[in-house]
Amino acid sequence: MLLSVNIDHVATLRQARLSNEPDPVMAATLAILGGADGITLHLREDRRHVNDRDLKLLREVVTCELNLEMAATDEMVGIALQTLPDLVTIVPEKRAELTTEGGIDFSIIKEDLRQKVKRIKDRGIKISVFVNPNHEDILTAKELGFDMVEIHTGFYANARGDEKDTQFQNVLNAVRYAKDIGIVTNAGHGLNYFNVSRIASIKEIRGLYIGHSIVSRAVLVGMQKAVSDMKSLIRLSSN
Ligand code: PXP
Repeated sequence: MLLSVNIDHVATLRQARLSNEPDPVMAATLAILGGADGITLHLREDRRHVNDRDLKLLREVVTCELNLEMAATDEMVGIALQTLPDLVTIVPEKRAELTTEGGIDFSIIKEDLRQKVKRIKDRGIKISVFVNPNHEDILTAKELGFDMVEIHTGFYANARGDEKDTQFQNVLNAVRYAKDIGIVTNAGHGLNYFNVSRIASIKEIRGLYIGHSIVSRAVLVGMQKAVSDMKSLIRLSSN
């Protein structure tokens, strides 16, 4: 099973100071050294974290799967056709949300989407869509020509008690249905070091798309070295 690392939150930290560190491009290369099979970025319409420069450089340095998450707008389709990521994942996007809140609502954009899917596929780019774990949306994705779906695991990740089993079963059923109708399945959102194993045990899943928990752990496991490097510099100059 593949792991694609979402580096958006490295850029979030950079944007907190509007500076040039930490650089998501450097983070991506380290993630690849660590064994990532792919790098994901979400270029939002408001460019709140990742920006156009990041996408351009990532396209140059990422030789494994570069996955561009984006809203299905004309601007973003234009950017995808120009940059040529290996994979585009269509996600719903709301300005006020902290992160993607749910799978796509096909009822709003269905007809327009068919044309956009075709334009992207015609350039040799694979295309996926973020869907809630239900059969209807997976079937619609297949009918619209998507190569893959990414099943939203956030409901499972956030569930407590018995509800966790119910939500896991929903993901499992969704993955099995996707396989039955012949559409490749990925999964992601809210996966962390405690809840990933159960999802990773679903053999039919092609890849997992994980960001926040990996970036969060990177901050902590790197803290000791970052502080000792700074202490060394201070010691060198103050003694
Ligand atoms: N998949 C999709 C479609 C997403 O929008 C996100 C969040 O950007 C992720 C996966 C990764 O979610 P998380 O950051 O919770 O691991």
